[in-house]
Amino acid sequence: MEKEVKIWYRVVFVAAVIVLSAFLSSRKTEQIPIKNTYAACPQNWTGVGNKCFYFSEMAKNWTVAQNLCMAQEAQLARFDNQDELDFLMRFKGNVDCWIGLHRESSKHPWKWTDNTEYNNMIPIRGVERYAYLSSNRISSSRSYIPRMWICSKLKNYSLNCQTPSPV
Ligand SMILES: *[C@@H]1O[C@H](CO)[C@@H](O)[C@H](O)[C@H]1NC(C)=O
Ligand SMILES: *[C@@H]1O[C@H](CO)[C@@H](O)[C@H](O)[C@H]1NC(C)=O
Repeated sequence: MEKEVKIWYRVVFVAAVIVLSAFLSSRKTEQIPIKNTYAACPQNWTGVGNKCFYFSEMAKNWTVAQNLCMAQEAQLARFDNQDELDFLMRFKGNVDCWIGLHRESSKHPWKWTDNTEYNNMIPIRGVERYAYLSSNRISSSRSYIPRMWICSKLKNYSLNCQTPSPV
């Protein structure tokens, strides 16, 4: 009689372990899709560091290109270090592409689309008011010329981690 009771305890214990581990592993697999979404760039964008970049498939003037970037919650491309610039230069190939630098005149400083000043890390050639990446350099041009363009935006981590607002 006692032996039978012991065996039943064992059966119940083993069953409980199986149910518990099945429950835990199902919770793990549920979390995978969330992990994949929050650090990625949108479809057709490419990620480098903390930024996502989009390379256009058609040519538009600077203003229209900037509006099309904004329609995708982005801006004409900004680079903040040599690595990002090298990446843009490699990825664009031989194609000239508008980026997010402009100025009021050749006497004014170059600015990004949010009006912060460019640090002149790489000098921009020419006397015009709108900048584009040409072969291995940054050149200036008038805004109405249609060119391919590059948009950029910061990677979006906000789905899972919201930045606490300052108190
Ligand atoms: C990505 O690019 C392909 C090919 O140009 C296009 O058909 C598709 O709609 C694009 N996807 C998004 C989300 O823009
Ligand atoms: C840019 O292109 C749009 C549409 O093609 C046009 O309406 C606009 O006048 C152009 N802007 C400039 C500054 O050339």
